[in-house]
Amino acid sequence: MSTVQTPTASAIALPPGPRIRKALQGAAFAFSRRRFMHGMADRYGDAFSLYVPVYGAMVVVASPQLAKQVFTASPDVLGNIQPNLSRLLGSGSVFALDSDDHRQRRRLLAPPFHGKSIKNYESIIEEETLREIAAWSEGSAFPTLPSMMRITLNAILRAVFGAEGAALDELRRIIPPWVTLGSRLATLPKPSRTYGRYSPWGRLAHYRRRYDAVVDKLIDDERSDLNFENRNDVLAMLLRSTYEDGSSMSRKDIGDELLTLLAAGHETTASTLGWAFERLSRHPDVLTALAAEAGAGDNELRQAAILEVQRHRTVIDAAGRHVHAPSFELGEWSVPRGHTIIVSISRLHADPELFADPDRFDPQRFIGAKPPSFAWLPYGGGARRCVGAVFANMEMDVVLRTVLRHFTIETTDAPGEKFHSRGVAYTPKDGGRIVVRRR
Ligand code: HEM
Repeated sequence: MSTVQTPTASAIALPPGPRIRKALQGAAFAFSRRRFMHGMADRYGDAFSLYVPVYGAMVVVASPQLAKQVFTASPDVLGNIQPNLSRLLGSGSVFALDSDDHRQRRRLLAPPFHGKSIKNYESIIEEETLREIAAWSEGSAFPTLPSMMRITLNAILRAVFGAEGAALDELRRIIPPWVTLGSRLATLPKPSRTYGRYSPWGRLAHYRRRYDAVVDKLIDDERSDLNFENRNDVLAMLLRSTYEDGSSMSRKDIGDELLTLLAAGHETTASTLGWAFERLSRHPDVLTALAAEAGAGDNELRQAAILEVQRHRTVIDAAGRHVHAPSFELGEWSVPRGHTIIVSISRLHADPELFADPDRFDPQRFIGAKPPSFAWLPYGGGARRCVGAVFANMEMDVVLRTVLRHFTIETTDAPGEKFHSRGVAYTPKDGGRIVVRRR
């Protein structure tokens, strides 16, 4: 429960935290965030304080009760973490919006991502998967991650941007290097100037200009399409929708938002799929059962396996908020205005009190059982919960089904791949390597 109150020195009570120098805490957070946060939770329990440059004073929580408090707090009390990806995506991104502006934007963004609209995109995902896996070679190990990156990128460019032809080609060219660079810069301080076209921030600005030109053309082409009213790509739906006062999204906001959907939805989904192949190739029983199920046209086990990959190999390890109210009552603590609050998602997923034998990859734990709320949180929670969760789940389901129907995956007893941070998402370090044979 959150209360807004005037802070006094005695009202502020923060959980314990390490006494090591702020710079060291910052370095540990920047270079080994996941391991550092889990280590701190081992030492201090479900809530601890840190100081991390860029984000400042921070409280990290790792219990369902505290996560629930954070995620269900009023958006006026807890806003989005500061700074966030809108530094790279633009002020029109949903990441940049809080309170009422955020609520209104979510009303526009939600309908294209409802189950009914998502059905339309299944054939695009299947087509993109078939195209990509046609080039897979048999009998020698290769990393699945680059393939998954191409599938999820093309899926978003077609289903969300409605891109085709020259526009699709140009976006395919500029986006992969741009996303890689953006992910690396995402958690670093942004300089006040770009230092020229060949500096990292200058290169980001250059990509952005090329991107804006393509999106401008896409919007013009869609509006002049005789079939505009029936188009079901997300861009068309955004162009047709209006806010409560009857106004529409500006071109700049649409450009920022499409980029947000791409940045949020491309690497995350591809990384989870990379982990799925890494996990399945090490679990022969699950793999055999999944292949039989894909042949029979069911998906109960596949759905459970997806939930379990997301628990066991969580790609976004944390979700964050910024305290806007004078203070926020969090369990026995009182966190002052300006603090960052982080929910350590990956730590919750590894808690033996929430998931029995958490180090074991076991999709059976989700057969006939819903994932526990505020414990299974790969998509975050509350008013800012991932808008693309249903899309991502459908996409992973279709990609896995298609691969399992066309290939047998060889199993291996090699040790599991390590976690590798790409800046935002955690991927399997060797890219989710597998060996396949065509069926
Ligand atoms: C497996 C894939 C994905 C994972 C693990 C994932 C995870 C997340 C997480 C943890 C958040 C933050 C939630 C919070 O702060 O409480 C988020 C937000 C978001 N995600 Fe996803 N996501 C995935 C796929 C997608 C896809 C496919 C899209 C769209 C095409 C998408 C669009 C967004 C957007 C727009 C937000 C910001 C929501 C807001 O601030 O209101 N995500 N996602």
